[in-house]
Amino acid sequence: MEGNYRENSLQYWDQIHEELDYNRNSIKVDDWLDRFEDIIDRSSLPILDLGCGGGNNTLYLIDKGKSVIACDQSEKAIAMIQKNFPEIKETKRFNMLDGFPFPDNSFEVVVADLCLHYFTEKDTLRIISEIERILVPKGHLLIRVNSVNDVNHGAGQGVEIEPHLYETETGTIKRYFDEADIKRFFKDYDIEYLKEETMSRYKLEKKLYRVCVRFEKKQH
Ligand SMILES: C[S@@+](CC[C@H](N)C(=O)[O-])C[C@H]1O[C@@H](n2cnc3c(N)ncnc32)[C@H](O)[C@@H]1O
Repeated sequence: MEGNYRENSLQYWDQIHEELDYNRNSIKVDDWLDRFEDIIDRSSLPILDLGCGGGNNTLYLIDKGKSVIACDQSEKAIAMIQKNFPEIKETKRFNMLDGFPFPDNSFEVVVADLCLHYFTEKDTLRIISEIERILVPKGHLLIRVNSVNDVNHGAGQGVEIEPHLYETETGTIKRYFDEADIKRFFKDYDIEYLKEETMSRYKLEKKLYRVCVRFEKKQH
């Protein structure tokens, strides 16, 4: 990764999570995972909540009775999770750029909500191959990522350093996907669901893609 994007991102997110300092009752859960209820219900292994932040998805999964491993680069986020979810199976602080500290085939389901759009193309592909490694064959990745139409949250703003990847004024990088980008990143796998949607969890509406990928290698 070029520049100080990595350090800037950590600083940025530590500060955000410090300011938010959620308690369990103030966490806003939305229902995007309901569509994948059968996949989540079927998982007999713990579910990985990647880039867990304040724990919106951790809360959803715990409320469903699932065992959850919550991960983030930010120690502030991890501290919040530990405070709010004493019942959590495990938390891990690591940077996705460094590879994932889990053995092969550790998970049937990985959830990555709004955390896979901060990387160069090369890094995104490395992260996707790490996700493949830690998933069992035919395991599922459930994600939401910024859409190119997310104008309320910076789409098209800043210096474009790669197609659809922008350097922001906080010195971090942010990608905005279109459908073709998602199909390209996951071309080796089976995209079971892909839809542009509007999320209203934030003050301003957010345009994003909701995606479900099954990690079974396609024959090209
Ligand atoms: C927009 S928040 C999403 C939080 C949560 N998943 C949600 O939907 O509310 C993005 C999260 O991704 C984490 N993140 C960003 N880059 C990361 C990286 N390289 N490694 C690990 N976590 C990262 C941030 O620290 C932050 O908590």
